[in-house]
Amino acid sequence: MPPKAVMSLLAVVCFWHADKCVCFPNGSVAFSCEDMTPVHPPFTPSTSIPPVTVSTSSANYRPGGVITVTVEVLEKSSLEFEGFLLQARSRSQQALLWPVGKFTNIDTKQFTALHCKNMENSSVSHASGDKKKKVQLTWEAPSNSNYEEIYFSATLVQDYARFWVQLNSSSLRLDSTGSSATGVFYSLALLFINLLSLPAYC
Ligand SMILES: *[C@@H]1O[C@H](CO)[C@@H](O)[C@H](O)[C@H]1NC(C)=O
Ligand SMILES: *[C@@H]1O[C@H](CO)[C@@H](O)[C@H](O)[C@H]1NC(C)=O
Ligand SMILES: *[C@@H]1O[C@H](CO)[C@@H](O)[C@H](O)[C@H]1NC(C)=O
Repeated sequence: MPPKAVMSLLAVVCFWHADKCVCFPNGSVAFSCEDMTPVHPPFTPSTSIPPVTVSTSSANYRPGGVITVTVEVLEKSSLEFEGFLLQARSRSQQALLWPVGKFTNIDTKQFTALHCKNMENSSVSHASGDKKKKVQLTWEAPSNSNYEEIYFSATLVQDYARFWVQLNSSSLRLDSTGSSATGVFYSLALLFINLLSLPAYC
C-alpha cells in the first residue's frame, strides 16, 4: 500500500476509534493512549533496548508538586527521534492504564498537549516530525493523590518502521509528609553544624 493510502486508512480507523487513538493530521504518528503504541501497520514495537534515558528531577513527589521529566538519547548515540508520547502512570492496580496528573507550561511550538482519557494535558507528544535528541517537560502531580508510586513512561518513534513503547523512568515515591528531600537534608546539615559547635571539653 502506498504511504498516502496508509494515512487515509489510518485517518478513517482513528475516526472510528476516537476514544483510543490520538491522531495527527500531518504527522505520521497516531498513538493509542492506553498501550502507548503507535498505529503503524504492519510494524510492531522494537524489542531492542534503545540508548535512551527517562529521568526525573526528584525521586519522590508531593501532592500538587512539580517534577521535571527529561527524555534523552545517550550522548554517544547517533539515534534521533521524530515522535514521542509521554505520560505519568501509577503503579497501583486501579490506575494502571490511566495517565496521572498533567503537564504544565507546554510549549505548543514544540509539543502537542493531549487529553488522554479526557484528562486535559495528561499526555504530551511532538508538534513536528523534526529530528530530536532530547525533550524536557514539567509535570504537576494531582493535589489529592492516592496513587502511591508513579513513574513516567515514554514511547519513542525513530521512523515509521522503528519505535519503542513504554520506556519507563524509575518509580517516584509519594511524599505526603510535606517535607521535601531538600528540607530533610537541610535539617541534617543544621544538626551537624550544631554538633560541630559544641564546646570541645564536653
Ligand atoms: C501540519 O499541519 C499544519 C496545519 O494543520 C501546517 O501548518 C503544517 O505545515 C503541516 N506540516 C507538515 C509537515 O505537513
Ligand atoms: C493545557 O495546555 C495548554 C497548552 O499549554 C494550556 O493552554 C492549557 O491552559 C492547559 N490546560 C490545563 C487544564 O492545564
Ligand atoms: C514499563 O512498565 C509497564 C507497566 O509495568 C510494563 O508493562 C512495560 O513492559 C514496562 N516497559 C519496559 C520497556 O520494560
